[in-house]
Amino acid sequence: MDTRPAGIRRGVYPYHKLSMATPHLQAQPGEIAETILLPGDPLRARQIAEEMLTGIQCFNQVRNMLGFTGYYQGKSVSVMGTGMGMPSMGIYSSELIRYYGAKKLIRIGTAGAMQAHLKVRDVVMAQAASTDSNFPAQFGLVGHIAATPDFGLLRGAVEAAERLEIPFHAGPVVSSDVFYHMDPEYWKKWQKTGALCIEMETYALYQNARLGGVKALAMNVISDSLISGEQLPATERQHSFQDLVRIALELID
Ligand code: HPA
Repeated sequence: MDTRPAGIRRGVYPYHKLSMATPHLQAQPGEIAETILLPGDPLRARQIAEEMLTGIQCFNQVRNMLGFTGYYQGKSVSVMGTGMGMPSMGIYSSELIRYYGAKKLIRIGTAGAMQAHLKVRDVVMAQAASTDSNFPAQFGLVGHIAATPDFGLLRGAVEAAERLEIPFHAGPVVSSDVFYHMDPEYWKKWQKTGALCIEMETYALYQNARLGGVKALAMNVISDSLISGEQLPATERQHSFQDLVRIALELID
C-alpha cells in the first residue's frame, strides 16, 4: 500500500525521500501526531503541551520552533509554533503535511479586530481568508485559491464551542504580509469587505492544506482592536488563549 500523504500520492507535491528530517524539523517519522495545534509562538506551544497534555515529548528544537507530541484524554496530539507570517506558516505547514503525514492542522492565533462588534478576548473562527499577499501567486494557478477551512473541522469547532459555552464569531479574516503599514488607514478598505479581523497566517495554512488534501482550521482570539485601539495586556493573552485550546482539543479523533 502506498502510505505517502494523499497530496504527494496525487502528485500535488514533489516527493523527496527523507530518511530523518526536513530543513526545518528534526522529528523522526511517526513522532508527530496526525492532529497538530499551531500557535504562532513556540513558547505558547510548550506551555500548552505542559499544561494540557500528558506524556509529552519534544520533537523539534530547530530555530527554537518548539514542537511537542503528547496525549489528551488518551488521544495523540501535537502542538508546535509556526512563527509569524505566511512564509513561516507556509514552510512549517508544508513540511508537516508532506513529510510527517499531518492530517488536521489547527491554527490557534491572535488577530486585530476590524469590526466594531468584535472586542478583545473574542474568539473568531476563520470561515475564509483573503490576503494582500503575493503568496498565492507563487503556486502557478491562473487565479487564486479560495482559502477556506475544512467544513467538518469548522462544524466540529462550532459544536465544541457551543458545548463548552464559549461565545464565538465565524466569518472571513484577512491575512496580511505587513504588520506596520505605511498607511495607518490601510485596513479600512478590508473592513468594507466584511472581514472580521486581520492576522498574518491563515491564508497560507488553508492553501497548503487544500493542496495537500488535508484538513485545516484557523481560530484567532482578538488581541487588539484597530477600531478602538484597545489591546489585551500581555499578561492576559495566555488566559484568552485557553478558549481556543479548549475548542481545539475537542477536535482530535
Ligand atoms: N495585524 C496583523 N496581525 C495581527 C494583528 C494586527 O493588528 N493583531 C494580532 N495579529
